[in-house]
Amino acid sequence: MRFLARGGRSSKDRTSLRRHRAARPVLLLLSLFLVGATYAAVSPATESVADGAADAQLIAQGKALFSQNCASCHGLGGEGLAQQGAPALTNVGAAAVDFQVSTGRMPMANPLVQAPAKENTFTEDEIAALAAYVASLGQGPAIPTEDQYNPAGMSPEDVSRGGELFRTNCSACHNFKGAGGALPNGAVAPSLQNATPKQILEALRTGPGQMPIFAEGALPDENAKQVIAYIEQVNAVPAAGLSLGGLGPVAEGFWAWVAGIGSLVLFAVWIASRGARA
Ligand code: HEC
Ligand code: HEC
Repeated sequence: MRFLARGGRSSKDRTSLRRHRAARPVLLLLSLFLVGATYAAVSPATESVADGAADAQLIAQGKALFSQNCASCHGLGGEGLAQQGAPALTNVGAAAVDFQVSTGRMPMANPLVQAPAKENTFTEDEIAALAAYVASLGQGPAIPTEDQYNPAGMSPEDVSRGGELFRTNCSACHNFKGAGGALPNGAVAPSLQNATPKQILEALRTGPGQMPIFAEGALPDENAKQVIAYIEQVNAVPAAGLSLGGLGPVAEGFWAWVAGIGSLVLFAVWIASRGARA
């Protein structure tokens, strides 16, 4: 065997051996490529037919669910009904449906200023079907995939960048810790405590209610993920008991009082000492 005798070879032998050894990976790559090419040539036809059938079935199921639960306000074709104040859904995309239904906002019980979040009564499959039907009506953002929103493995630098982005873009409405707050026009920016990473990204891309849309161009997926990592971290803190904010406004007021009165006392002492000198 050539390989066993390797140690005793001249340098010339070694180069030819290297050439031989290189031949193996090349052959392997070549055959992999051939397999790939053959597969690509054969499979799309069969795959897209199967996909198409599954899609059509999902859309049909979604259409049925939609006419029972949504059409009274949004119209049978999702065109929106002005008398219900319900917007057209023709270009909102699957992400908007997944967000609105998974947070329990839709179906709305009755048209209000703002659809409140509540218990979602649909299964994941039903939501997928509804989303597929609405997506089939036009264009709009798709439901994001896990690699777009899962913040696992983000570094501390990522989290602090997320914090900066959050303070610049979100805290005006949602408070710097995501605790939520009232908006001037009677709407409410909810607490982000219960939002899942997927729902956060969907909210960014679809801009529910009074919230502006943060499109991919303004806030790329990578930055959105940093914001998500920050929100997740902030949400985790109160449970660990490290945050003053977790104690509520009374405790915060108490510390403001201690610090405020404390500095006044120090100031008074300082004035007194100057007075004594004069
Ligand atoms: C009682 C009336 C009503 C029903 C029923 C209803 N909606 Fe809505 N929907 C509204 C109103 C009003 C809004 C706008 C208010 C808001 O976004 O808070 C809205 C907004 C939406 C949006 C957000 C659109 C956007 O521009 O982002 C989606 C998506 C949606 N509805 C999907 C559904 C689906 C799916 C169902 C059925 C499961 C449903 N709705 C049932 C009234 C309704
Ligand atoms: C102009 C105010 C405003 C800004 C800025 C804003 N939001 Fe919102 N956000 C809202 C309002 C209002 C709602 C509720 C909409 C509704 O219920 O229809 C909301 C809803 C959400 C929700 C859904 C929460 C849940 O549990 O249902 C998430 C998540 C969210 N916002 C994240 C963000 C993030 C992240 C940013 C910054 C990149 C941001 N928002 C910026 C006003 C705002």
